[in-house]
Amino acid sequence: MAASPALITSLFLFISASDVCGSNVCTSRGVTTCKECLAVDPSCAWCSQEELGIKGSGVSRCDLKENLIKEGCNTAALEFPSSSVTIVQDDPLSDKASGTDDVTQVRPQKLHMELRSGASKRFTVTVRQVEDYPVDLYYLMDLSYSMENDLERLRTLGSELASTMRKTTSNLRMGFGAFVDKTTSPYMYMYSPEVIANPCYPIGTTCQAQFGFKNVLSLTDQVARFTEEVKKQTVSRNRDAPEGGLDAVMQAIVCKKIGWRPDASHLLVLTTDAKTHTALDARFAGIVQPNDGQCYLDSNNLYNKSAVLDYPSLGLIMDKMTENNINLVFAVTSYVVPLYKEYSQLIPGSTVGLLSDDSGNVIQLIEEAYAKIRSKVVLELVGVPDELNLSFNATCLNGEVIPGLKSCSGLKIGDTVSFSVEAQLRACPQDKTRTFTIKPLGFKDSLEITVDFACGCDCEAKSVPNSPVCSSGNGTFECGVCQCHEGRMGPRCECSMEDYSPSEDNSCVPKGGSSACSGRGDCLCGQCSCHANDFGQVWGKYCECDDFNCLRFKGALCSDHGRCNCGFCQCDAGWTGDSCDCSTRTDTCMSSIGLLCSGRGNCECGVCQCTQPGAYGSTCEKCPTCPDSCTIKKECVECQHFKRGRYTTDDSCNRICKNEIRVVDELVFRAKNAMNCSYKDENDCVVNFQYYEDETSKSILFVVKIPECPEGPDILLVLLGVVGAILLLGLVGLLIWKLMVTIHDRREFAKFEEEKAKAKWDTANNPLYVGATSTFTNVAYRGN
Ligand SMILES: *[C@@H]1O[C@H](CO)[C@@H](O)[C@H](O)[C@H]1NC(C)=O
Ligand SMILES: *[C@@H]1O[C@H](CO)[C@@H](O)[C@H](O)[C@H]1NC(C)=O
Ligand SMILES: *[C@@H]1O[C@H](CO)[C@@H](O)[C@H](O)[C@H]1NC(C)=O
Ligand SMILES: *[C@@H]1O[C@H](CO)[C@@H](O)[C@H](O)[C@H]1NC(C)=O
Ligand SMILES: *[C@@H]1O[C@H](CO)[C@@H](O)[C@H](O)[C@H]1NC(C)=O
Repeated sequence: MAASPALITSLFLFISASDVCGSNVCTSRGVTTCKECLAVDPSCAWCSQEELGIKGSGVSRCDLKENLIKEGCNTAALEFPSSSVTIVQDDPLSDKASGTDDVTQVRPQKLHMELRSGASKRFTVTVRQVEDYPVDLYYLMDLSYSMENDLERLRTLGSELASTMRKTTSNLRMGFGAFVDKTTSPYMYMYSPEVIANPCYPIGTTCQAQFGFKNVLSLTDQVARFTEEVKKQTVSRNRDAPEGGLDAVMQAIVCKKIGWRPDASHLLVLTTDAKTHTALDARFAGIVQPNDGQCYLDSNNLYNKSAVLDYPSLGLIMDKMTENNINLVFAVTSYVVPLYKEYSQLIPGSTVGLLSDDSGNVIQLIEEAYAKIRSKVVLELVGVPDELNLSFNATCLNGEVIPGLKSCSGLKIGDTVSFSVEAQLRACPQDKTRTFTIKPLGFKDSLEITVDFACGCDCEAKSVPNSPVCSSGNGTFECGVCQCHEGRMGPRCECSMEDYSPSEDNSCVPKGGSSACSGRGDCLCGQCSCHANDFGQVWGKYCECDDFNCLRFKGALCSDHGRCNCGFCQCDAGWTGDSCDCSTRTDTCMSSIGLLCSGRGNCECGVCQCTQPGAYGSTCEKCPTCPDSCTIKKECVECQHFKRGRYTTDDSCNRICKNEIRVVDELVFRAKNAMNCSYKDENDCVVNFQYYEDETSKSILFVVKIPECPEGPDILLVLLGVVGAILLLGLVGLLIWKLMVTIHDRREFAKFEEEKAKAKWDTANNPLYVGATSTFTNVAYRGN
């Protein structure tokens, strides 16, 4: 018979999905070194003890810790590194930034982790936006000709901007920078010295010579100077519409000269009304050297590699922003808002604001952008090793946990949010230790995490090369096993590959068998070394035994009620049968009336097999058509309906009788399986009822309301009968008497008639006449 492929597939799926009886994830992989063992699963341990186990061959050195200890492994010889998290630095979060030097917005600050391959550990990061945090605001302005009216307006805005920002922080620094575009053709007019010196020369006005980027005022807390410097600025003029804003952004981010303070929010505001050049645009001017993200401000505060390096890419800007905790605000006119919105999506930590034509709303815009930046906490990961998988759950406002999120928004200053982080090591990296950081975007504060990868075994340090244990120097003895040199094999490197030819060796072939080691092992020096098997352990002299080829019941090896031992199920207590599928219990067969299977079947493997036709139910208790069902249900009618009888006396009615009683006037035909019953009760009345089970197997007893009782004798009738009988008897007696008298009379009369005939009486004779003489005869007289 061929088994269906689907069945076989499902069987295999089942086996591989679960731990087969006796084997586990550690033992089933066939690992041969300690390092491999530890990588299998965090639950696996390795025993480096030389002598291990009693069986010898079957014992795996890589097993669950408790199994190894059971096999007699000394705890000192156990390799079982565990994973841990230690908090190294845990300063409390600050409430306010003012008045303190050390502001802490992230807690903890340093963690040390030890992770095994496959293991995961969890920790929590708390972030708080402290109040009154210092702010550095650098205003980067497009000074191309079209921005002339904006510059006019900005000249008057300086102090207003400062006073607005002071509402959110008492510690404000402001700076100012300007940009146009690369100082080379085709970005600038270069056709004559005059036009280079004064690009507005062709349109008849005067403006300053074109430049790439100029740091006009480094960050300073003297706001008056901001106004002063801005007033001195004049516009310039360039040729093409896109400007060199990104060049300026890059310099403003990376140059120390700008004066960003480490302990402050860094706002970089870029105002422009035009598109911007990005990486590779500089090829028009023959510039091919990519931007390197370095600062090139010369002594005049001018970007002196403007015409040497290409524009920076968005990616490079993003990297540098993260590195320097910069929040970029694009304050741009409506015409280019969509474009900068796209850029902003690519650059985390940047926002876009709509600038009115004369920059009149720039203060409000910066205020909003700053509030937006401060209302959001986004965790950023720097330098996370590839092998480490981090997952996050955010607890933002109201303690609500948002799975999978590493950001919170809609926060107010002073709100505390926390993130639950789970780090899982998926594989072992090359190096032993790595450090990475988790930091909220735009914050100086960060959490530094050092991870030690617990991938190696201590016993490796004690390995003995050319150990005498491994066949006098034919292998390295490491962690309890021999790692054989090239050309040697066997558990103790006892075999040489050249000398050995498996085909001539018969000691591994069982008697009558055909393949060496049952095809499940290697014949090494005349001994079978059984292969590791994904399904379980294989052992025996010829690898003929295993713990996974036993009878299955419903897909479960030995019904999960026993151990598979070399082809046979060894059942646990309480189970029997070839596949341990048969329970030895009988209590499950006991019916409520105290009979095994209600006396209508046999208890087999703890389950009733009903033999009585028509019987069903887990204890064959249901059988409307069984002849004895009337007898059984009779007691229930007695106790449930009449509240009397045996079950009422011993109080077992509720336990045994679970019927619904319905009182009816008379029985009707209900279904084929409704049984009509009747019995005589203690009053000699006949109780009629019908036993019926509906579709839901609920048993219902229809009891006829009035039992049929025998009617009493009619006294009048009896009396009349008696009287009648007496009269009749009297009459009969009278008649008999009369008859006898009549007969007697007749006889007497006949006799009289006869007498009369004999006596010839003279009719004149008086028959009654008696003669006056009497004649007597003297008997004693003898005379004559
Ligand atoms: C540009 O500035 C840097 C300093 O940032 C300086 O070392 C370099 O010599 C300057 N190059 C030119 C051409 O001025
Ligand atoms: C990290 O783990 C999660 C959950 O286990 C998983 O969905 C995600 O794909 C993993 N990431 C990587 C890069 O493996
Ligand atoms: C995140 O939450 C989910 C359930 O909501 C949980 O299964 C998971 O383990 C949590 N992860 C972390 C890192 O706390
Ligand atoms: C390897 O073992 C054989 C005998 O089993 C021995 O003669 C030989 O010297 C050993 N080789 C080395 C390199 O020790
Ligand atoms: C039970 O009695 C009712 C009424 O006499 C009758 O209609 C019905 O057929 C009987 N049912 C059985 C199974 O005899």
